[in-house]
Amino acid sequence: MMEELHLRLASHAFWDNRVLQSCRRGLLIREDYALIFSQYALLTCSTTRFTHALLAQYDQEPWSTRMTQALWQEGGAQPPEKRPATLFRRFLKEGLGVDVEALHFQDSTRYLVHECLDWCLRSPPYAAAAFLAFGLEAPIPRLYSVFVDGLQQAGISERHLSFFHQRMQADSPRASLLEELVLAHAREPGWFDMCLRALERALELQRSFFEGLFESVHHQRLGPLLERIQARLPLAPEQPEPRTFHLGDRSHVVPFFHHAHEQHGIDFSVDRVPFPSEVLETSVVRVSPGHRSEPREHAYEVLLLVVSGTGHVQVRGTGVDVKPGEAIFVPRWASHQAQCTGAEPLVLLTVTDHGLTRRAHEDEVRRADKLKRATGVDL
Ligand SMILES: [Fe+2]
Repeated sequence: MMEELHLRLASHAFWDNRVLQSCRRGLLIREDYALIFSQYALLTCSTTRFTHALLAQYDQEPWSTRMTQALWQEGGAQPPEKRPATLFRRFLKEGLGVDVEALHFQDSTRYLVHECLDWCLRSPPYAAAAFLAFGLEAPIPRLYSVFVDGLQQAGISERHLSFFHQRMQADSPRASLLEELVLAHAREPGWFDMCLRALERALELQRSFFEGLFESVHHQRLGPLLERIQARLPLAPEQPEPRTFHLGDRSHVVPFFHHAHEQHGIDFSVDRVPFPSEVLETSVVRVSPGHRSEPREHAYEVLLLVVSGTGHVQVRGTGVDVKPGEAIFVPRWASHQAQCTGAEPLVLLTVTDHGLTRRAHEDEVRRADKLKRATGVDL
């Protein structure tokens, strides 16, 4: 039956919450983790209170004494610098740049802590123990290995991750004692169903908590932009005077990159038009006669406007001939490529929503920037 409870834990929908999915896929950046672990810290430092809530209604010897000893072993018995709470605060401060003195509860975290305390105070003691053992302690090694994977992908140095490694490697005396306590009541009627309810309640609460954090990450990335739009404020408090840029005059634009690969028939350049825009990004793309741009697909949508020259543009495998004055739209993630078919360069004005999309895909933008710095190749 204990094994069955572990199996239920292993296959619970909790493991598919969007924070863990994003950790595994390396989609979160340091700032996202700062938000997530600022709240997770408030949960972890409350777990001792949950155990005290269990003890408050369970004064049978030897359990109460053994549990008190386990709590002491994990906390006070260790030198301050080795205590889990100290290591976690150091991870937050040095690994993620969080001001640990200024942590404050989000409503969803306060709700989670309140519900956990409530369960431990109001359920039969063995059900409170099952809630803590299967819902909070047993998931830790697997949960922390997902966190470590994500944190490493976000570039957080290994030296900041000792809290997680310590908890993944060392058996928690409290966790094994809680399971022992659950098992000691196995002959009571309805025991298994109650344990299962406890496990599912604990994991469901945490699943909602992480889903809430995922929404907060989105808000953190996109919220300031949306708030400025709703507040009718521009990004720069003082916009410069309106000015025009002559697209044919290269002194008006900012060279971004040029790529040529004769064997592949590729020769094109991209120059940025430096409008002080928040969401739109404007560029001039030049494809040399007889050549193509690189085939590309990206997260932002693009409007291509032919300024001069003639060519052939492929979007998702369908090609169209283009000439000056014509425009063509490229949806997000649609593969596209431009070819110059005339004697003069094909010059395209491109307008994308890069300023918006990059906020939703900070992870990819940063990886691309890093790769560009390392290899000199623009993606
Ligand atoms: Fe493109």
